[in-house]
Amino acid sequence: MMESKKANVNLSEFGKIIFFTGAGMSAESGVPTYRGSGGIWHKYNWQEYACQTAFDKNPTKVLKFHELRRASVLKCNPHDGHNFIGELQKNHENVTIITQNIDGMHQRAGTKNVVELHGSLWRMRCDDCNVLIEDIGKKYQNINCDCGKYLRPDITWFGDNLKSSVFENASNIIKKCDIFISIGTSGAVWPAAGLPSEAKRNGAYCIEINPEPTDLSSIYDEVIDCKASEINQYLSFHT
Ligand code: OAD
Repeated sequence: MMESKKANVNLSEFGKIIFFTGAGMSAESGVPTYRGSGGIWHKYNWQEYACQTAFDKNPTKVLKFHELRRASVLKCNPHDGHNFIGELQKNHENVTIITQNIDGMHQRAGTKNVVELHGSLWRMRCDDCNVLIEDIGKKYQNINCDCGKYLRPDITWFGDNLKSSVFENASNIIKKCDIFISIGTSGAVWPAAGLPSEAKRNGAYCIEINPEPTDLSSIYDEVIDCKASEINQYLSFHT
């Protein structure tokens, strides 16, 4: 691994680019991370708010928690780092974002090709009826399915399996990528945490961007100690 603060990686030299993002990507927008200081799981016990058992026991309590998160995310805006990726996509034909974030911030920066590994705060679903509904706003527009059951947020909660089609899609894209740039993830949650190693095994050049070292830092070819909003100082696109 090469540690560097001065890397200037010209992304035009790479054919297929993946950005793999976590909560640190949105931290400077004002969306709290999960595990760092001020992290959501320090304030809220996920057993009460972020698992199917909690939802089955007290759906309105869980939905209110998610409405609080929706309201706080709607007050936030994408920053220079999100905008850099959105702009890059306009100039480079093969840029995919694989995100663990559920906040939709990449899409709000105009980014396309976003694979949402852990779902979205802005969708609701009923597993019995195979219903999936977009629902954007502070409050949920509808919390009941036509079958009478509560709709649940289309989010991967603790204890849930990732949607296999979504994970397979991410794995397939990773198999073909030339550069894999991870931004703002602790690498603590599996199976997402296995994706950087998969990229490495498949021969991609792997870069980690994070102001803190992580459990996965040693597998990257390059570690850039900077914030997500500063990536334009280290990554560029020029032909
Ligand atoms: P974590 O909260 O575990 O990690 C956030 C990472 O972002 C840490 O490594 C920080 O050092 C880094 N970070 C903080 N500020 C940053 C900044 N300004 N720029 C760049 N990096 C910064 O978040 P995730 O790794 O995304 O799952 O967590 C993975 C999953 O755990 C989440 O998707 C969520 C959670 O439980 C679900 O909700 C299913």
